[in-house]
Amino acid sequence: MQNGTQRRFAGKTAVVTGAGTGLGRAMALAFAREGAEVCVVGRRQEKLDETVALVEKEGGKAFALSADVRDPARVQAVMAEAVTRTGRIDVLVNNAAGNFVCPSEELSPNGFKSVVDIVLLGTFYCTRYAFDALKANKGSILNIIAAYAWSGEPGAIHSASAKAGVLAMTRTLAAEWGRFGIRANCISPGPFHSEGTDKNLWLSPDVDAHVASTVPLGRLGEPSDIARAALWLSSEEASWVSGATLAVDGAQWLHGGTLNFREMYDKVRASMSGST
Ligand code: COA
Repeated sequence: MQNGTQRRFAGKTAVVTGAGTGLGRAMALAFAREGAEVCVVGRRQEKLDETVALVEKEGGKAFALSADVRDPARVQAVMAEAVTRTGRIDVLVNNAAGNFVCPSEELSPNGFKSVVDIVLLGTFYCTRYAFDALKANKGSILNIIAAYAWSGEPGAIHSASAKAGVLAMTRTLAAEWGRFGIRANCISPGPFHSEGTDKNLWLSPDVDAHVASTVPLGRLGEPSDIARAALWLSSEEASWVSGATLAVDGAQWLHGGTLNFREMYDKVRASMSGST
């Protein structure tokens, strides 16, 4: 467990939301490998338990607290329990998200609201209720956004609107909570492979190859690519970095984004209808 790591988070507590799968799980494992005790938060207990088991298998420390980040009372209880169990919160990673591809003209008000509730309001609730502990430890907030927070994204108006709000929230908190020693940053991941994205987005080899061709570095990412950046941004090595957004995307955002052109959007839509 300790081999090959710098133990940058020894004695610290990291809370990672959406940690039952994909990127959240990869980040939980990465923080644990660096010595953090990790509070893994998500909706599905069995997925959270799997993440905890993976951490423990490597000799790390983690515990699961189930929560829907849309429920502020439950979020408040989760942050309080993380502090009760470990005495502190040093790092909060707001990774929980919800998304699906749907043309704006077909999206229902409740569909829009569901994603905004998870991504935008959920991020605020977690941040708000972690504040006292973050302040006590001069902690770090890391919000996972997407390049479409600034470019927009055909087929994902709900998520693009919510992520843009999270970007503004991050900058606001960097300016407002800097006085408490709290840092707030974003990572904007490019397209990467995970159970969820492979199931929901990269539905055919054709789409996968096409997306890879939009990445100047020539490949889709892996969750570990993003987790390594999350560690650095949340660590003392980045102690004067706040209000920043780090694109970890093989430079894809310079190339027009994932679905941000009509041909790709139509391809993804076509592969989705073919898969149902
Ligand atoms: N296309 C269009 N509308 C959709 C949709 C889709 N693929 N999926 C959900 N909706 C709409 C529903 O129709 C509903 O609106 P309505 O009441 O007007 O019919 C609304 O969204 C809420 O749907 P519901 O099934 O109650 O979802 P939820 O609120 O429990 O969860 C998500 C919403 C986003 C979490 C859910 O769609 C989901 O599980 N997505 C896949 C997992 C995921 O998003 N992972 C993260 C990837 S970044």
